[in-house]
Amino acid sequence: MVVTSQSIPEIRVPKHPQWPELSAREKDNLKDRIKTLLKKNNAVLVAHYYVDADLQALAEETGGCVADSLEMARYGTTSDADTLIVCGVRFMGETAKILNPEKRVLMPDLGATCSLDEGCPAKEFSAFCDAHPDHTVVVYANTSAEVKARADWMVTSGIALPIVKYLADKGEKILWAPDKHLGSYIQKETGVDMLLWPGSCVVHEEFKAFGLERLHKLHPDAAVLVHPESPESVIEQADVVGSTTALIKAVQEMPNEEFIVATDDGIFWKMQQLAPDKKLLSAPTAGEGATCVSCAHCPWMAMNALQNLEQLLIRGDNEIHIEEDIRKKAVIPIQRMLDFAREHGIGGSPAK
Ligand code: 13P
Ligand code: SF4
Repeated sequence: MVVTSQSIPEIRVPKHPQWPELSAREKDNLKDRIKTLLKKNNAVLVAHYYVDADLQALAEETGGCVADSLEMARYGTTSDADTLIVCGVRFMGETAKILNPEKRVLMPDLGATCSLDEGCPAKEFSAFCDAHPDHTVVVYANTSAEVKARADWMVTSGIALPIVKYLADKGEKILWAPDKHLGSYIQKETGVDMLLWPGSCVVHEEFKAFGLERLHKLHPDAAVLVHPESPESVIEQADVVGSTTALIKAVQEMPNEEFIVATDDGIFWKMQQLAPDKKLLSAPTAGEGATCVSCAHCPWMAMNALQNLEQLLIRGDNEIHIEEDIRKKAVIPIQRMLDFAREHGIGGSPAK
């Protein structure tokens, strides 16, 4: 395995937006207005587990979905709504548009990006692929439409391992981008020859192995759940490594009463909803008020809120557009993943 010395742009991490506090009554009124607007627009909410709890709850109450990125991609293709409102980050909205060009795809904030996507510019990535023509190009979902257009396969964390194993069994060498931690985890698990782009997630990068070890000593019966975008030294301490859906299912299914969770803390809402008696502890980052930038919460996911969702539904702007020649190329690796998932019975439903 080689993490290449490719230089990547410096990532500007925004501050978490501060949304005005709403009283319970104001919140209920706002939710009611949004429900009316969703009906009027024949629109559904497609939300990720990391967004604000109120948005996740509203997506469920209004017949939309709350899921990981694999299921979010699939959900849009099965919905008969004219408009998909993706509450998540930009690559999730782009994937929905690539798969559903006839639908309108809107997002509360088009500036909600992702450090992995930002760290893998299409031009440099394309040159990297050109330099290694004998490799099969596998990209993580957290990339732009242009990068996907250059790939043979797209994968999410919920399906990356079986797809790479399948390719390895055929004797293929893999060029992987952009997350070096997820790439190196897959490489270790499969033993496949992989060339890794040096990107990382600013949220998962901050989990600290030493702090985790210390917390685990204080809670020796807790199971440690880790998203594979985390550094190797954190993954090594995990009882379960997996996608957001896999981590939620672990809380539901494992007998432990306590869990230490190394992923964005937005996921706690769903974990607590499905397993209210379990105790959840956030894996340590550099610590609030110390040097952590994201502090276990993605600043781009935090750009989604009830307030800007209502504005979006009133104005109907913030639409995702993808050039048709890019879309036609990008849909190939995504559809390959969805076909593989269907044939192998992988994923299929959000945590319930
Ligand atoms: P999942 O597909 O596991 O939900 O991960 C998406 C993501 O961006 C995690 O940081
Ligand atoms: Fe990207 Fe990390 Fe945010 Fe997920 S948590 S969207 S990988 S920056």
